This record gives sequence, structure tokens and C-alpha cells, in this order.
Amino acid sequence: MISTPTLPSPIHRLDRLSNAWCIDLWAKRDDLIPQYLGGNKVRKVFGILRSAFASGDVPDVLITNGGAESNHARVVALMGAQLDCKVHLVLHGQEPFRNSTSGNSFFYRSAGATTHYVDSQNIGTTIQALERRAREQNLSVLVIPGGGHSVDGVKAYEKAIDELTFEPDCIVHASGTGATQAGLLQGVAGKNWRTRVIGISVARTAERGIDEIAKLLAADFPRKLIDFRDDYRFGGYEKFDDVLIRFVKDVIREEGIPLDLTYTGKAMYALRQLVFSGEIESDSKIVFLHTGGLLNLTAINS
Ligand SMILES: Cc1ncc(COP(=O)(O)O)c(C=O)c1O
Repeated sequence: MISTPTLPSPIHRLDRLSNAWCIDLWAKRDDLIPQYLGGNKVRKVFGILRSAFASGDVPDVLITNGGAESNHARVVALMGAQLDCKVHLVLHGQEPFRNSTSGNSFFYRSAGATTHYVDSQNIGTTIQALERRAREQNLSVLVIPGGGHSVDGVKAYEKAIDELTFEPDCIVHASGTGATQAGLLQGVAGKNWRTRVIGISVARTAERGIDEIAKLLAADFPRKLIDFRDDYRFGGYEKFDDVLIRFVKDVIREEGIPLDLTYTGKAMYALRQLVFSGEIESDSKIVFLHTGGLLNLTAINS
């Protein structure tokens, strides 16, 4: 069986950044969920698998997709290994060196997943072919949407809101497929809180990101509450510059909180800009959701 994530994840105040930025800043540390190296994908994939098993047996084969250094792929591979499933990962982007000992790729390879590196336009057909082949062999298959982008992934983050013991003015986090953000929005709405949820895009344009999040929410969910910012992408997914590196190093030195350059560094940078521009008011109570991603940092340049 898979290990149940140890929850709630820790939350602690960031005293020095709070003082420097004149806000009341708390870090919700989903990166410190102990199982499967933590991060938001642990909550999402666990929720998806638990819901799948509730309506049937553990499948023989798990298939999913993601980037070559996908956190989601690492979690699916590790959980799949524990379940004795055959795991197929359909990955796009630069294939990591065969003997690389860093990043998510080290973990999904160690877990025994079979990898298929393809161009992004071939992801769908590759998944279909793998599924067909498995079914021809009379194997049961579960295809997990890339990034855990599904209703069960959303529910996992809706529940995460229950772990907060206060109503923050604002939650800020890195947003990719948008399932984490959709879940947080649903959780906040369920509590009748006035909390703003600000997702900082790590890849998508605001238009696409908002559309995808809206699809995961109830049809009558007010679109204007979907705050998905695309101005802190630093050129796109996995891109960064010296400004971001300097900022991340400053935060690490100041507060000792680890940030990466693909996800959480961009989200924290955006938070500071929103505070400095006055869009987030002084003395606001802010939760920074740390979604993990440190392995992406170790994969850079390797
Ligand atoms: C570390 C990390 N943070 C944030 C995200 C974004 O999560 P979501 O896809 O639910 O928007 C991801 C997704 O890849 C991630 O790996």
C-alpha cells in the first residue's frame, strides 16, 4: 500500500521577511510533507489514487505525463513502485543524462518507472498507445492526468484549507496546471472566507491559466475570483535570470527558507512585488504556500 501523507503540513511565521516587508507572513510547508519527498503533488496524486481504489482494485499499470523533471512524475513513480504497479511516464523536454544522480529523474528512474521521452505534440498518442498495449495484455490501467489536473487533485487542496487555523487576507503560491489553485479557491469559498488566492503562473498565460482553472470549478464560480498572474514567469517554464537568483539567495540568507527557481522562487518574488506596489496592503496576513520543487533546483545544469 501507499503511505498516507502526514498532514497537516507544518506552518510557521517568517519573522524577518514579515518585518522587512511590513506584513504578517506565514509559510505553509507542503514541501515538508515527509512522504515521497513532499510537495503539492503528494497531496494531489494521493487523492487521485485513493479515489480510484475506492471504486476498484489497484490497477496493474499507471500511466502519466509531465516534463522531464516533473515533480508529479516522481510522485507517481514512487507511489506506483510501492503498489507494485508497472509505471509508464510520458515525458517531454530535455532527457536527463542516463546516469544523472540529481533531480526528479534520479527518483523516478530509481523507482523503476519506464520512461518515454517524446515531443509535446506526441504526448496524447503515446499515452493512448501504451494504454491500448496494456489492455491487449489484459492488464488494468489507470491514466493519471499530467500534474494531477483532475477533480480529485482539486479536492485534495480544498481539504488543505481546513488545516489553516486562521483566515488569511491572502494566499500566494506557484500555479501551473491550476488544480492546486482551484482547490484552494474552493476551500476558501466553502468556509465563506474573504481570502484572496493569488496563483503565480510558472508557465501559462493568464488567459489560458484562468480558462483551465475555471473548467475545474463549479460553473457558477465567479471568474473574477480566479487571480492567476502571468507577469512573473521570467520568460517561461524553468527560465530565470540573475534578478531571480539574487532574490532567492537573499531570501535564503534572510529567512533560511529554501526556494527553487522554477516554482516557489517566482511565487515569493511576486509576493514581494505585490507588497511593494501596494496591491497587498501593509499588515496583511499572508500565507505563502510552499509547494515544493527543490529537486528542480538540483536538476539545473546537471
Ligand atoms: C513544486 C510545484 N509547485 C507548484 C506546481 C503547480 O501546481 P498545479 O499544477 O497544481 O498548478 C507544481 C506543478 O508542477 C509543482 O511541481
